[in-house]
Amino acid sequence: MNFRYSTPIVLAALSGGVLSAALAIASGDEEMTTTSLPSPLTDQDFLYDGAPDASLVELGRTLFFDPILSGNKNISCGTCHDPAFGSGDGLALGIGEGGIGAGPDRTTADAVLGRVPRNAQPLWNIGARSYVSLFHDGRVEALAAKGSTGAIRNPAGSDLPSDVSSPLAAQAFFPVTSPIEMAGQYGESQMANAAHHESRREIWDMLAQRVAAVPTYLDMLRAAFPKVEIAGDVEFLHLAEALAAFQAEAFRADQSPFDVVLRTGDPTYLPLETQAGLDLFYRAAGCARCHSGPLLTDHQFHAIVVPQIGPGTGEPSLVTLFPKGVR
Ligand code: HEC
Ligand code: HEC
Repeated sequence: MNFRYSTPIVLAALSGGVLSAALAIASGDEEMTTTSLPSPLTDQDFLYDGAPDASLVELGRTLFFDPILSGNKNISCGTCHDPAFGSGDGLALGIGEGGIGAGPDRTTADAVLGRVPRNAQPLWNIGARSYVSLFHDGRVEALAAKGSTGAIRNPAGSDLPSDVSSPLAAQAFFPVTSPIEMAGQYGESQMANAAHHESRREIWDMLAQRVAAVPTYLDMLRAAFPKVEIAGDVEFLHLAEALAAFQAEAFRADQSPFDVVLRTGDPTYLPLETQAGLDLFYRAAGCARCHSGPLLTDHQFHAIVVPQIGPGTGEPSLVTLFPKGVR
């Protein structure tokens, strides 16, 4: 199906503040008064062309919500990326393994040494191919998009399997290696100790074998990957690919009223106030300078003059909400 809307959509302000759309405008000063809306998203804009294999998605769904991927089996991906809280956790700074409760009510237990230093990103449309750079600082990034090889720049360097299929699958290798997020605190387990020493491959191997040892998982892995026959064939790469397929499918969100406007080219589908906002966004307020394209982002990094609040990572913050030692 080829349903790409190519005619530029032009918004025109009418008297009285009411907006209407015209598919083409013939009049005068176009630069001042008109802006094109982006083309709508199609299946091809998503990994697996929007249709990942059902057995892969099912494996990914089960793993995403299963604490089996954490050192102490006490936290899953879904704890911080909870569908009940918009695929985030409702907290400014997440509470990883050892925490108690869900969403904004989650609190630290005694054994928890620190908070996750950054906000848990929501995962909407994270399966779109245009997300080539992941995490707040883009530390997982497909270099191919920048004209280089097919490699993915990542914190583990060449330890990351070279045949990982997407930045999204590459990302899944990392939460499990963070002591605070999923692996556990030094001294608690072999996996936690490996995390402390940044022995990531050891963690990935331990997790692959732990999952493969569960008969139901081994069946699911066999269904999703024809090359997997026995538990010894299972690698963390299989788990990561399944997690990516699940996230790409489950968090796809391109049926909003905005998406309808992009598909039909008719902003009058929106309530009047919303049309006014759309007009502002694309013209006077200049939001679309950065929030461009159907995903409302240019995928670039911008300095927006907001100081770091809270611990963050790396350089000390201008404002620290937590006393020394708590991070
Ligand atoms: C303890 C909370 C926590 C857990 C558990 C967790 N995440 Fe996250 N996730 C975060 C935080 C915080 C970030 C942002 C980190 C950063 O940028 O440094 C993030 C970022 C991401 C991103 C990048 C999103 C983007 O827009 O760049 C993806 C994808 C993701 N997580 C998936 C997962 C998967 C898959 C798992 C399980 C294997 C998982 N997360 C487990 C808190 C968590
Ligand atoms: C110079 C580029 C730029 C412009 C112009 C801009 N933004 Fe942003 N905006 C950003 C960046 C960068 C972020 C992400 C900050 C972060 O996550 O750390 C952001 C974040 C946001 C968010 C939060 C999104 C989320 O998922 O949490 C909203 C909402 C937003 N902008 C709305 C607007 C509106 C409305 C306008 C126009 C009035 C606007 N922005 C103009 C760069 C811009």
